[in-house]
Order: sequence, then C-alpha cells, then structure tokens
Amino acid sequence: MTIHFQVNGKKVDVDAAPDTPLLWVLRDHLSLTGTKFGCGMALCGACTVHVDGQAVRSCVTRVREVENKEVTTIEGLSKGSMHPVQQAWIDENVPQCGYCQPGQIMQAAALLRAKPKPSQEEIHQAMSGNLCRCGMYDRIRKAITVAAERSGGGQ
Ligand code: FES
Ligand code: FES
Repeated sequence: MTIHFQVNGKKVDVDAAPDTPLLWVLRDHLSLTGTKFGCGMALCGACTVHVDGQAVRSCVTRVREVENKEVTTIEGLSKGSMHPVQQAWIDENVPQCGYCQPGQIMQAAALLRAKPKPSQEEIHQAMSGNLCRCGMYDRIRKAITVAAERSGGGQ
C-alpha cells in the first residue's frame, strides 16, 4: 500500500504495510537515521518525532496514522541546527553518548512550542518519558530553561 505524507517539508510516497511502525519507515525507507530505536514500546522516547507539531513515539505510531500529515524529524527541526533548543544543547554541552539526544531535543522542542515559558515542574513532567542512560537529566533541564529564557519558546 502506498502511504502519502510529508516529512521535513517534502511530500513522500511510501510503499509499506499500513501497520509498519513510522520509525522503520523513517529509518529504512527514507534513510532518516537521526531518529533512534530504544525500546520499541513507547517507554524510552528515543524515537520521538513530531506529527503535526505534536511529539509522538514513532516506534508505536503506525505509518497509516500519518497519512496526509506532516512529520518532522531531528533532521528537519531547523536549518543548520539553529533551533533554540539545539543552540542551548550545544551551549550547555548536554550530550554524553548522544543516543537519546534526538528524542530529547524533539520532545523539548514540542514542549516549548506548546508552552514557551514552562515551569521546572512542567519541564520535568514533559521530559519524564525520555530516558537517558548517561543520566544527563540536569543538563537537559538546564538547556530547556536556557532555550525558553532566550527565545520565549521554540520555533
Ligand atoms: S523506541 Fe520508541 S519509545 Fe523507546
Ligand atoms: S546521552 Fe547517552 S543515553 Fe542520553
């Protein structure tokens, strides 16, 4: 079956079984490997992308669910990594191994889009489903706070 949707502003037509996880379509059909596989069960957040601006777990999103929708991956979040969250991530030296980071950044960007000035509790709540085996949680929260202060929110 051919599924039509947009990824990072471009129309795509993907030949895949409708129940194929969006994560596999992004990585295997479209070669967008910035989005990572962690648990495959919506428990870690490594696979987070945006669908029509909302953060979703692409490992449990079936490709048929994004028909005619706009998907944004880490590759399309901004031009030249200039999103305020990405800039704050660089300035605050957030990543350790980096594996969880695309998902963390996509989750944080969706948070700031919805809530340009989140409280610390709101940051904690929004990010609580994104796990980091390197334990970079303090740096992640700091970078989100910095991004919010600088920009008044995400793009
Ligand atoms: S891989 Fe999707 S939430 Fe863990
Ligand atoms: S930076 Fe290593 S898992 Fe988060």
